[in-house]
Amino acid sequence: MRRLDPAGRPLARAAGVFMGASMAMALVAMPTVSSEPASAAASAAISAGRLPDGYRDWRLVSVAREEGDLDDIRAVLGNDVAIEAYRGGRTSFPDGTVIARLAWSYESSEENDRSFGRKQSFVAGHPKNGVQFMVKDASKYAETGGWLYAHFEDGQASRDAAQLNACFQCHKAVSGRDYVFTRYAR
Ligand code: HEC
Repeated sequence: MRRLDPAGRPLARAAGVFMGASMAMALVAMPTVSSEPASAAASAAISAGRLPDGYRDWRLVSVAREEGDLDDIRAVLGNDVAIEAYRGGRTSFPDGTVIARLAWSYESSEENDRSFGRKQSFVAGHPKNGVQFMVKDASKYAETGGWLYAHFEDGQASRDAAQLNACFQCHKAVSGRDYVFTRYAR
């Protein structure tokens, strides 16, 4: 059985550190990440062009289905700051909010259809249309409504200025709701 740390992550990597010859060095050199708020770590990772640790475990805000060129099924997740703001009914989000948009191909499921006895079931297939984030820092990102917009394709951050500029331009349509389209699904 795999051993898990208190957060449920496998201990395999930590074990590797302990098996190394420079165990004491490794411990001394370990960054004090645990004392940093998770929201700050996520914001820092995204602004540095890295996917934030653990975003796949964030809580669900809502789901959506896009037709047309996008043709996907998607989920919007929020970090703890985002979820608290949503559940508190806030109309604007505090600094430290990070909202993620994941998407997958929209697939008909023959397996599910067989159980229902007719064609009706559609499910998430492979990841599609990248993973997108909005990171709130009202002063740092004041020029784009207080949000940093980031797009990742296969884990790689997009550097396409035109694509990233389009994010804010379109999200301006909901400037009255702090540029966030998705409402919390109860
Ligand atoms: C043409 C308009 C448009 C563009 C361009 C666009 N978005 Fe969005 N975005 C939406 C809409 C509409 C939603 C809500 C429905 C959905 O998820 O499809 C959304 C949802 C999101 C969400 C979930 C939070 C929310 O506002 O609902 C994030 C995060 C996001 N977009 C990030 C981005 C990023 C990053 C880019 C640029 C790379 C981008 N968007 C470009 C229209 C747009």
